[in-house]
Amino acid sequence: MRRARQRKLDLRFPRVSYLAARAQRRIPHFAWVYLDGGTGDEGALATTRAAFDDVEMFPRFMRGPFRPDLSSTFLGVDYAAPFGTAPVGMQGLIWPGAERILARAAADHGVPYSLSTSACQDTETIGPIAGDFGWFQLYVPRDPVVADDILRRAQEGGFRTLLFTVDVPIDARRERMRRAGLRVPFRLTPTLMAQILARPAWLAGVARHGAPRFRMMEPYWKRASAFSPFTAVKRASEWSVGSPDWDYLARVCDNWPGQVLVKGLLHPEDADLAVEAGAAGVVVSNHGARLFDGAPPALDALPAIVERIGKRAAVVLDSGVRGGLDIARALALGADFVLLGRAFMYALGALGARGADHLMRLLKDDLSNVMGQLGCRTVAELRHVAVRRR
Ligand SMILES: Cc1cc2nc3c(=O)[nH]c(=O)nc-3n(C[C@H](O)[C@H](O)[C@H](O)COP(=O)(O)O)c2cc1C
Repeated sequence: MRRARQRKLDLRFPRVSYLAARAQRRIPHFAWVYLDGGTGDEGALATTRAAFDDVEMFPRFMRGPFRPDLSSTFLGVDYAAPFGTAPVGMQGLIWPGAERILARAAADHGVPYSLSTSACQDTETIGPIAGDFGWFQLYVPRDPVVADDILRRAQEGGFRTLLFTVDVPIDARRERMRRAGLRVPFRLTPTLMAQILARPAWLAGVARHGAPRFRMMEPYWKRASAFSPFTAVKRASEWSVGSPDWDYLARVCDNWPGQVLVKGLLHPEDADLAVEAGAAGVVVSNHGARLFDGAPPALDALPAIVERIGKRAAVVLDSGVRGGLDIARALALGADFVLLGRAFMYALGALGARGADHLMRLLKDDLSNVMGQLGCRTVAELRHVAVRRR
């Protein structure tokens, strides 16, 4: 029965693009634009994706029969595949219950789940679900007492890998989101109400999982609000410091019991500074092209960063990854691991809880197929594939 259902999904949604198309019809418009959009003219969204198409890999043949092995040891942890979920703020607003669903699917599939500081769930709830596969992402709060407390809670929740995000020095303008009717502070206008009422599956999710809230940060606000993720956006931007410095990072690295990855770097010198400050590695990322429309594609920035720090530290890539071929391209260009943000949210929007399991299987199958085509038995071999930029 389960296999028959999986097979049906494989036939209907064999690629992320099909999931995205259905998700758009099931997520309220303002939340869809928050998920899918970029900023400015949104040119970086297209270039970030197109960068993958420029990477060609040379297959090798005559290697006899084999079944590709996707397993990957990263920062001392054994994962079933070299990819995981990127942190996405307000995940539960995009799809109700998203944090729990994705954390469970990641643990089931043996890959990391990354919980954002501004997610709708807290470390106390998600830590036990994600188990050894939980990563926590920190936006550094202005108040050092709050920062220390958040890090303490993350540690107590069992998180050992810390994503220290540095690429949000100020808020992005996100013009398309404004036009969708989102205002700060939030007002439930007739426009937004109409968008919500047009999405019954999303509303049913809210009835089941409760209204989205910023559970991680709520304890630090004087007045926590009920259904007000949007009020919280305003508070969050008041609350977080966009631009901590390298000394602060060094202190965090000294005190954090696990590994720290600095997320959001595009310049090799910044990667160097991160490693000098004690980070175990970096996440090369342009934040999914949603902050600065003049940023280069993360994939284009990857080789120089690998060259600079790859022998001393871990290098992760995100932004624009939509399938197994993209994962293989990033690994062939030197990444040790790959994260996907929007793709998992498209999967939830399209299929609800089943979407997480479906996308995990889809990505594994797709990557396995690409490795088979290339003649790579292991992920390590993938890193030695001959590559050409078109
Ligand atoms: C809706 C949305 C919210 C995000 N929120 C966060 C966040 O809270 N913290 C963070 O470090 N990155 C955040 N990101 C960036 C992702 O972690 C990741 O860098 C990006 O999604 C990768 O690009 P992709 O969506 O094309 O895979 C967010 C991305 C999206 C799309």
